[in-house]
Amino acid sequence: MIKAVRGTRDLLPPETALWNFVEAAARDVFRAYNFHEIRTPIFEETQLFARSVGEETDIVSKEMYTWLEDGRSPEQMLELAWVKVHGKGGDWFVPPRFQKPSYYPDIEFRPPAGERILLEFSSRPSLERLRLMRQYAGTWSEVCQQQPVLRLVTDREPSDFLQREAARLDIEIETVELIDELSQSLTLRPENTAGVVRAYIEHELWQRGLQKLYYIGPQFRRERPQKGRYRQFYQIGAEVIGPPSAGSESPARDAEVLELLATFLDRLGINDWTLQLNSVGCPKDREVYNEALRKALEPVVKKMCADCQRRAVTNPLRIFDCKVPEDQPIIAKLPRISQFLDEDCRKHFEQVQEILKAVGVPFTLNDRLVRGLDYYTRTAFEFTHGSLGAQNAILGGGRYDGLSESLGGPSAPGVGFSIGEDRLVLALKESAEAVQRKPDVYIAPLGAGMDREAARLARELRRHDVVVELGDESFRLKKSLETASKMDARFALIVGENEVKSGSFALKNLETGEQVSVPRAELARKIQSDR
Ligand code: HAM
Repeated sequence: MIKAVRGTRDLLPPETALWNFVEAAARDVFRAYNFHEIRTPIFEETQLFARSVGEETDIVSKEMYTWLEDGRSPEQMLELAWVKVHGKGGDWFVPPRFQKPSYYPDIEFRPPAGERILLEFSSRPSLERLRLMRQYAGTWSEVCQQQPVLRLVTDREPSDFLQREAARLDIEIETVELIDELSQSLTLRPENTAGVVRAYIEHELWQRGLQKLYYIGPQFRRERPQKGRYRQFYQIGAEVIGPPSAGSESPARDAEVLELLATFLDRLGINDWTLQLNSVGCPKDREVYNEALRKALEPVVKKMCADCQRRAVTNPLRIFDCKVPEDQPIIAKLPRISQFLDEDCRKHFEQVQEILKAVGVPFTLNDRLVRGLDYYTRTAFEFTHGSLGAQNAILGGGRYDGLSESLGGPSAPGVGFSIGEDRLVLALKESAEAVQRKPDVYIAPLGAGMDREAARLARELRRHDVVVELGDESFRLKKSLETASKMDARFALIVGENEVKSGSFALKNLETGEQVSVPRAELARKIQSDR
């Protein structure tokens, strides 16, 4: 039996109702705060994540699903390599498939001088290909009254025999070198902030002022699966990003995002959350801090794990991501970022806190919180939730003022968050049952020909937003009523020949057992009034 891959899972009803409930609540809240949806691709160039999330992070160094794009056929690779050598120039088109020869060269190329060249890109030259090329050129010149130059482009030197044959058939052979940079390294997105900022730059969204964007969708990390941790997981996230002139740098934006999160969690009925808040300063502060960390690590780093020994050299801040128990006492004694914030960062952080106090969002300061991604500057935060154990970060986020520039974009300070939807659903107290909408009515067709009448009635009722489940005319009434009760329908509606003739239908309340006859036109209202 083929099973879902480890770390992935199927979401089935009734649990999916809970997911829909959460997503609908998120969309409602985003609307109230004037956020709009963005959907970015599920895979991007690997470089995007390496340059934003950071080479030294666990996510980029260990957890990404990366592959070399081999979707290109060898022929396409050859074509790209050939264009790289000769430039594009002239007209390109795949030759018309007149007379449909079983084989035709890949492309016709007309250089500016007007000479027609038929090119065949072949990674494996063969006698058969050479002959077919000649044959095709014959058809071509009959139709076009023009003799093209034939050229076979390949990446391997043909044998002496093939070279002689090519000369005999008047086919030029050109060997080109496949260039490695033409194959692309791609990665399933491990997070969505990088994709959003890439799209912001690509579509010049700064021209539209401050952008408030949200997304809901799957992310992929190759982590060790456990409760609340999956390899395909879902995030509900948002980013506020824009030119500094649009107020994107303001502490008011950080506070608004945090207040939105508090509102959202409260609305879902998750109230035992804790907001852990920190400022990781600006790049200048971090340089000084990293230096201080290196110094503090010097005498002890040899006792630490191999990862930490490497991090101490490349990116000391990442030492805080270490989960090795023996390293923790050393990490606990390291200097704290809060001692290294410059005046501007300190002020910015204070203003965020003041607004949070003013709007009544409680928080806990935690100057050990540096987050596992490199792009953060200033405000960094996580919301934790008691019931989740070790995997207790229900969401995380922060400010990333230099991210756009590091991806080649303009200055575009930003702040955002991502909620782990899987963990949110786990934390939700309501059972899936509570949000699952049960059928309002089960239609029981009685006797031959009644499926048709039942379908008509169902169509009418569904137009009035009544949730309808349809039975089958082959069922006896007893079986229909049992099925209706099993699925917790509120009513059963009996559709027999007499009912259709009279235009009045027997509607049975399955909870009370009461049965009334209701005229067709009043059915929807009667069912709804009882909700
Ligand atoms: P993150 O902390 O890497 O931040 O992920 C955010 C949340 O996604 C985590 O708090 C957790 O709830 C959930 N999550 C992460 N990995 C997994 C997993 N393997 N299984 C289940 N849930 C998981 C980011 O992704 C940033 N993009 C947040 C952000 C947005 N910062 C600024 N804007």
